[in-house]
Amino acid sequence: MKNSIFIDTLKGIKRERPPVWFMRQAGRVLPSYLKLRESYSFRELMLNPELAAEVTLLPVNDLGVDAAILFSDILVIPEALGMNLKFTDKGPIFDNPINDAKNQLPSLKADTSKLEHIYKALDIIKEKKADDIALIGFCGSPFTTFCYMVEGNSANHNFSNAIKLFYSEPEISSKILEIITELSIEYATTQTKHGIDVFQLFETHAGLIPSNLYIERILPYVKRICNAVRNKNISVIFFPKGIGTGISHINYDIADFVSIDWQFSLSEARKMCDNKIGFQGNLDPRILSVDNKEILQKELEKFISFGKNEYNWIFNTGHGLSPDNSFENVKFVIEWIKSVNWFRN
Ligand code: CP3
Repeated sequence: MKNSIFIDTLKGIKRERPPVWFMRQAGRVLPSYLKLRESYSFRELMLNPELAAEVTLLPVNDLGVDAAILFSDILVIPEALGMNLKFTDKGPIFDNPINDAKNQLPSLKADTSKLEHIYKALDIIKEKKADDIALIGFCGSPFTTFCYMVEGNSANHNFSNAIKLFYSEPEISSKILEIITELSIEYATTQTKHGIDVFQLFETHAGLIPSNLYIERILPYVKRICNAVRNKNISVIFFPKGIGTGISHINYDIADFVSIDWQFSLSEARKMCDNKIGFQGNLDPRILSVDNKEILQKELEKFISFGKNEYNWIFNTGHGLSPDNSFENVKFVIEWIKSVNWFRN
């Protein structure tokens, strides 16, 4: 069995280069994915374990990434809590967002059978993938999930209804966060029984509230989910996008690795966090839409001075890939990461 560069790095073993994968690597830029989408809807791909497994592994074959992330979505948790979800051209939309929290709370009941197809997909992926490719499980962090459940869609990037509820009804908000956390713990720990090598918690909307409030009112839920997964001997990567200087509160007591967004500098963040937590990130994904390899390469070269000394670092973008990123550029980045001299002697 070949040693996985990804798993070695998670364990703190020095390797010749950082491992590389991309958030949203399956469903955005791959021609093979877009071809499948001509025959199937996103939901059909997600619900069918064979197809979900196939899509999960596409980026390994087509891009050469070191890890595969389960093909699913963070919004399966609200769905399993009984909310009706549609994926439309304008993004996800809930029929019944939480606009009357007091009366709707009792109806948020977990039906874990709605998550079974995901565990089946994990079993198939585990069987099909090469040993040296790490399998990443994930779920949304409670605050980001809360934002979608209350807002009902992502048309308003400020999630104003969700933030208003968070401020005006702290008790009800906590109850909703608690319900999400409990199901997320069950979901995440069940993923560990189905072969994931590492788990990522996506807090895409950490930046919607001041970081001191985030630390005070949200981080305890995050810690519970991370601890539950770490207790199963699976490493956790936490992605608090937009947390800003609040990053100084994200240390090894929270997660094994923290994913840094593109707004923050890796070396600045390194000074603010304890030495034990590993880093992931943080190329600005929008550079992947620029049709000029020299400009792209110049941005990549800036990572060498960090990567030559920092071994507990996974290369990634500072947020997910988007459909306007070029497949050729993404491939170029991976080949560059694998072939450049990282001066790690
Ligand atoms: O590589 C992958 O795509 C892995 C699977 C994955 C998806 N969503 C599939 C998806 C993962 C890890 C996610 C996470 C996710 N989903 C997040 C957190 C990560 C991040 O990048 O911020 C969030 C906020 C969501 C919610 C969501 N799902 C939105 C806002 C959208 C619409 C906008 C968009 O990015 O396309 C989705 C739909 C979605 N999730 C698609 C895919 C492949 C697009 C479906 C399609 O049209 O093919």
